[in-house]
Amino acid sequence: MRVITTAADFREAERAARRPMGLTPTMGYLHEGHLSLVRRARSENATAVVSIFVNPTQFGSSEDLSTYPRDMEGDLDKLRREGVDLVFAPCAAEMYPKGFDTYIDVGEIAARLEGAHRPGHFRGVATVVCKLMTIVRPDNVYFGQKDAQQCLVIERLNSDLDLGANVVALPTARDADGLALSSRNARLTPEARKSALSLYRALRLAERLYAEGARDAGAIRGRMADLLSAEPGVQVDYVSIADAKTLVELDAIGGEALASLAARVGGVRLIDNVTLGT
Ligand code: PAF
Repeated sequence: MRVITTAADFREAERAARRPMGLTPTMGYLHEGHLSLVRRARSENATAVVSIFVNPTQFGSSEDLSTYPRDMEGDLDKLRREGVDLVFAPCAAEMYPKGFDTYIDVGEIAARLEGAHRPGHFRGVATVVCKLMTIVRPDNVYFGQKDAQQCLVIERLNSDLDLGANVVALPTARDADGLALSSRNARLTPEARKSALSLYRALRLAERLYAEGARDAGAIRGRMADLLSAEPGVQVDYVSIADAKTLVELDAIGGEALASLAARVGGVRLIDNVTLGT
């Protein structure tokens, strides 16, 4: 496995690499969720690439860039064991050199949900993913469905800017008790982790109500919000039942819907979602 830290060196390696090439972009502190994407990329491509870069532009001023967990050596060990060929691990000055002044704003799909609660977040995500895809030039690029809106934003970016990759979104990896895997879980105290399970319970409630025939999105949102507000230590950012493709909030569920939520648990912001009507 080769670890490359500059765009120029990566371009050279990319020219010699076997195709197809699959990229899994990450911010490191890798868990089973990331590794399931890496395994899929490994199985579908002649060259498996993973990028590790904690992207400063997607964190808001009051957000947790400085406390975002990092473990480069541990990550590289894991990726070696998965048989990854190339790791791209640039520093911030490589990705954003002095004078950097070009950003990508994806429109409507990026303005809703996470976009409304974390202004500038998707601008940072779209900019860095566009740069990573331009440097790596992957045939396939892999993301987790836990960040469902991020997947839609990247699909829009890939299509609008003709980046030419196939965007693959894979199911959310969960712990045995249902908690969605996230690098941020490392910052949950045992007590907060217990409270965080209410996010999954709220989504399971939405699934159960839907399975029982409920289609009134407002009523389902209300039941989910009630469940979350009864949990000590959980501060809800939003509870949403939206069209799965446009993320427009629904009155009634007709086609495929995305039930999603974001909440702070013990100071850690978590998101999760399930799809209804598939
Ligand atoms: O999902 C993430 O880890 C990040 O948003 C990504 C896609 C690696 C961009 O920094």
